[in-house]
Amino acid sequence: MKNVLISLGQRSYNIAIGSGILDRAGALLAELPLGKKALLVTNPAVGDLYAARVENSLAQAGFRVFRAQIPDGEQYKSLQSAATLYDRAFAAGLDRSCPVVALGGGVVGDLGGFAAATYMRGVPLVQIPTTLLAQVDSSVGGKVAVNHPRGKNIIGAFYQPVLVLSDTETLRTLAGREVRSGLAEVIKYGVIRDGRFFGWLEKNIGKVLALDPEALAHVVETSCRVKAAVVEEDETEQGTRAILNLGHTVGHAVESLTYYTDCNHGEAVAMGMATATRLAVQLGLCQAGEEKRVNELLHKAGLPLQIPGKLDPHEMIKAMARDKKAYGGEITFILPKTVGEVIIKNNISETDIVKAVQACQGQNL
Ligand code: NAD
Ligand code: GLY
Repeated sequence: MKNVLISLGQRSYNIAIGSGILDRAGALLAELPLGKKALLVTNPAVGDLYAARVENSLAQAGFRVFRAQIPDGEQYKSLQSAATLYDRAFAAGLDRSCPVVALGGGVVGDLGGFAAATYMRGVPLVQIPTTLLAQVDSSVGGKVAVNHPRGKNIIGAFYQPVLVLSDTETLRTLAGREVRSGLAEVIKYGVIRDGRFFGWLEKNIGKVLALDPEALAHVVETSCRVKAAVVEEDETEQGTRAILNLGHTVGHAVESLTYYTDCNHGEAVAMGMATATRLAVQLGLCQAGEEKRVNELLHKAGLPLQIPGKLDPHEMIKAMARDKKAYGGEITFILPKTVGEVIIKNNISETDIVKAVQACQGQNL
């Protein structure tokens, strides 16, 4: 088992990574000062596969577990679902010492995390992420949220878990497209902070796609280390943490203008990374050879680079300005200088953005 510590003073916590960790959940939770009732939040798909193992392990460690299943899907990351969880927690008699255990992908993690942050003004949160995206990104760093009908993740908080348990074996049952979606965030970590990791991915992407256990553990551990370092520097996104949004400025615009149907999050982020890198080359901040490396790795990971031609670049700019990451309509881009280093930049002209978007609509690897 590998361990990554996130050092945030009193809010510090461990991420345990490895194969078969689900069966050790009880023993690992028992090391923490937690009440002995737990609310296990999951969905039917993940629940059928993995909830019994977690429940048995927790029961063996003396926890009484109450399962709350929310239907599968982004639309259930809502205030209504959170209300269901509060009802269940209250009926089960959970007090402020009792943990919410979120078992699932980013939807379950964000929703369970939001309920934990708000029930009785905050109860301990344990994340057990079961998608690659959740293991490398959403379970780590403390962003929890539900959606509002007008926008994604509009109602939320920064609320760190007390423990994250990433069982890489659970990724074996994940659809290939979901694995590739998570890989977009993994590649992002290489580009923003870790050129050596990027080089490792260039050589080993085949093993990762084949779900080789050692390769997966290395990917999850290294991604968590990069994210941990950024979050430790800037927990509440006053500055540096924004680099985690590489590819998201354009990615969110693609997702919202296609109504979250044409592509998944990782695919949109891949298009966004390709566009940000194109823009950086255009502005003379990055060498064309670095762009080639980024695009080739995204392509090898089975991710799309081409923005759908039906999207109007000017409409995309409007969507970028509406995004909650834009302040006063000011669009921020994260731009690679080299593989392993990015800068945060605003004041980019609309002409430059349109040119980069159009280049990515035309490109084909
Ligand atoms: P998801 O939670 O919808 O999971 C994808 C699908 O995989 C679902 O159908 C789920 O039931 C299924 N699934 C999960 N684990 C499985 C397994 N081991 N085997 C088989 N099927 C499994 O999607 P996601 O990509 O994990 O997360 C997306 C969400 O994460 C979005 O709501 C996004 O806003 C959020 N997010 C949050 C952060 C953050 O920092 N909090 C960061 C990135 C994304
Ligand atoms: N997923 C971006 C962040 O955690 O800041």
